Amino acid sequence: TKTINSFPKNFLWGSATAAFQCEGAAYEDGKGLSVMDVREQNPKICNYEVASDHYHHFKEDVALMKECGLKAYRFSIAWTRIFPQGNGNVNQLGVDFYNRLIDELVAANITPIVTIYHFEYPQGLIEQYGGWLSRKSIDDYVNYASFLFKTYGDRVKYWITINEQDHVVHMPFRLGLKGDDLYENEKAGFLANHHMCIAAAKTFKACHELVEGGKIGPAVCFDMMYPTSNRPADMMAWLDAMEIRNYYVLDLNVKGEYGGVFKRYLEDRGWMPKLQEGDLACLKENKPDFIGFNYYASKSISAYPLSDKNKIGDMVIKLLPAEEAGIYKVVKNENLNATLWGWEIDDIGLEGVCRLLWERYRLPLMITENGFGNKEVMPEEGMIQDDDRIDYLHRHLLAVKRAMNVGVEFIGYCNWSFMDIVSGHSGFSKRYGLVYVNRDEFDLKDLSRSKKKSFYWYQETIACNGENI
Ligand code: BG6
Repeated sequence: TKTINSFPKNFLWGSATAAFQCEGAAYEDGKGLSVMDVREQNPKICNYEVASDHYHHFKEDVALMKECGLKAYRFSIAWTRIFPQGNGNVNQLGVDFYNRLIDELVAANITPIVTIYHFEYPQGLIEQYGGWLSRKSIDDYVNYASFLFKTYGDRVKYWITINEQDHVVHMPFRLGLKGDDLYENEKAGFLANHHMCIAAAKTFKACHELVEGGKIGPAVCFDMMYPTSNRPADMMAWLDAMEIRNYYVLDLNVKGEYGGVFKRYLEDRGWMPKLQEGDLACLKENKPDFIGFNYYASKSISAYPLSDKNKIGDMVIKLLPAEEAGIYKVVKNENLNATLWGWEIDDIGLEGVCRLLWERYRLPLMITENGFGNKEVMPEEGMIQDDDRIDYLHRHLLAVKRAMNVGVEFIGYCNWSFMDIVSGHSGFSKRYGLVYVNRDEFDLKDLSRSKKKSFYWYQETIACNGENI
């Protein structure tokens, strides 16, 4: 086989963000509330309402993207800007905002990649019928997505259905759940998962019908996992963890099936959702065009024997979520360095994920997020010298190249994030951007943008189509 030294000519060199993390304007122009607006951590950790104020700075941000040479920009649409209650009336001001953003991108020759739903589930739907826990959620999601296809599909050809569904399932507040009973929350999470998968399948179909040349896929989170030792029990724990944490959404999205281990795991706990007639056929018939995945780190998996307190009679009743219930636990990997937040940095893990996904599903891959979070302070003079980030991105792109060399096909790669934005969990002090945004947790300063060293590195990388990798 010929060794591939170059990235494909049409490789989408991209960068990504999500609406609630960058837009700000949380209460402006008719936007409705989402679960991310009302979550408990908001007022405590930082000011979320303004975020990076991209809503008012988008022209400047797109100009910077153009200067960087981006071929693609992945952003999410805030569902409640379009439908403030999640369904019902359309908010024209919200529709107009994304028209302006998309037009600006197209004029700059940047391919828009649109995430339909990135954690921001409408609070209105939680109040109307309990959100994803109700089957009604399927139609409302498909209607919303179809509205986007009809409105923006003339210019947007790449679509992402749901960001990190596999995480949403285990995060009760993102589903609008209030209780703290782990067992009930997981049960609800897997019911929501089923509804999300049916909604995604119907949306793959709608995209193919409504968007000429449209391509659509999910964006799951896929951490590489390793068995922590060569003890056979660790190997089995690793196999289980891969099935019940990593593959389950993609198996439903792509193969249209509940994987054997995953199904058993749900059934043992009484968590298997009741399927309706036609559900499995719907999943089987409708496929994505590519697999999008977010990759940041790897995890080491060790066996974790059940304790007696989880046993009832002769039967092992595993009531708690996997990590606490005798299937596996995550342990520190002594071979890897980690970020300040303990995320273990592992480019070889990315190569492994690309190969695993390609072998299992045979669909082209789009890396929808990959990046390095750090604390950064703007120097008095000059720019932020984020060599650690450059090293991280360089190594991970090299891993993509190695995967290409064994036949894996890629559509593109999006670093996370283009500019500094509010972190999912850690406020504004965890920065990922190629562009610095001048604000602190609560002091919003002037929100000015400054290019970091990594901006210039990515610019050069794109300009030579990755020949420097
Ligand atoms: C992914 C999410 O989980 O990871 C992003 O899709 C998030 O929304 C990113 O920001 C990094 O996580 P964090 O918590 O470091 O911001």
